Amino acid sequence: MTQLAPVSPDTASKVALPDAQTVTEVRHYTDRLFSFRCTRPASLRFRSGEFVMIGLMGDNGKPLLRAYSIASPSWDDELEFYSIKVQDGPLTSKLQHIAVGDQIILRPKPVGTLVHDALLPGKRLYFFSTGTGFAPFASLLRDPQTFEDYDEVIVTHTCRDVAELKYGAELIESIRSDEMLAELIGAENLGKLRYYPTTTREQSPKMGRITTLIESGELFSDLGVPPLSPETDRAMVCGSLAFNIDLKALLEKAGLREGANSEPAEFVVEKAFVGDGV
Ligand SMILES: Cc1cc2nc3c(=O)[nH]c(=O)nc-3n(C[C@H](O)[C@H](O)[C@H](O)COP(=O)(O)OP(=O)(O)OC[C@H]3O[C@@H](n4cnc5c(N)ncnc54)[C@H](O)[C@@H]3O)c2cc1C
Ligand SMILES: NC(=O)c1ccc[n+]([C@@H]2O[C@H](COP(=O)([O-])OP(=O)(O)OC[C@H]3O[C@@H](n4cnc5c(N)ncnc54)[C@H](OP(=O)(O)O)[C@@H]3O)[C@@H](O)[C@H]2O)c1
Repeated sequence: MTQLAPVSPDTASKVALPDAQTVTEVRHYTDRLFSFRCTRPASLRFRSGEFVMIGLMGDNGKPLLRAYSIASPSWDDELEFYSIKVQDGPLTSKLQHIAVGDQIILRPKPVGTLVHDALLPGKRLYFFSTGTGFAPFASLLRDPQTFEDYDEVIVTHTCRDVAELKYGAELIESIRSDEMLAELIGAENLGKLRYYPTTTREQSPKMGRITTLIESGELFSDLGVPPLSPETDRAMVCGSLAFNIDLKALLEKAGLREGANSEPAEFVVEKAFVGDGV
């Protein structure tokens, strides 16, 4: 079950950090995954899907920062992040212990390739993710433009275990049942949203790597949609380096070309983390 963390007792005694934002909510999903929300700097403007540098003050007195996709949409008053807990990770070994009222550092300079501007107009938009790679799509899925620009939005999320799917599953459920989002997106548009979660190591209703399910055609037959085509389909990809490379090859095989902010095309890719090569 998702656990809400308690309010930190010594909030008032915390020293102000540079670019400080205050944590407003923390949720733990597994011993490797948690999400948190914090205040948003008044000056911060970003496009849904972009990432920023966030962190904590290191033991050496210098900010210890890492790239994080903003998981909340650009219209939200607060910011949300979805994070891994790496037990010996310089940042997340500490970040996983933050509580409501604590401060984090947030550099308000958003960048990234997983943005609508980097794609040419299309009919169907795929979000392909593994692990914390779901984070930028949590932002884009709450952005009305996603549903205004496409007839169909297909979200795939692959994790090792069922518990690792929970943040994404809850997000999809909240979009489907949230009155404000329904109003923003348009109640009829929520019907455009297709969610396709899969696991690879624990039994679940749909098993397998999404790359395998694309190659076999199972993804398309399950959803009742035609195979990938550059005429109709657009895609955003976010996962480990190996996942990104394999999925990019499949998209290119189907005739889609990689786009960028400066030169929009049919798909865009971003790493969910650096490390653990192919
Ligand atoms: C563009 C970009 C966006 C990112 N967005 C997010 C995000 O939204 N949420 C998030 O949790 N992380 C994200 N990351 C990764 C993040 O920057 C850090 O690597 C992560 O917070 C761990 O920091 P650390 O200092 O504890 O360990 P690090 O020294 O940074 O990493 C140690 C090792 O842990 C593994 N690892 C790191 N991050 C992850 C991860 N997310 N999932 C699985 N294994 C991982 C890798 O093997 C890595 O070599 C992003 C990275 C990039 C480049
Ligand atoms: N998840 C855990 O329980 C766990 C525990 C301890 C340590 N770690 C370490 O943490 C790091 C990240 O783990 P993670 O589970 O977040 O990410 P991950 O290893 O990238 O796996 C996430 C999901 O993506 C799938 N996947 C990986 N490579 C793929 C590819 N090339 N094409 C298609 N699908 C692919 C995985 O399937 P497969 O299962 O088939 O690989 C898994 O379902 C890894 O280095 C791992 O060793 C993870």
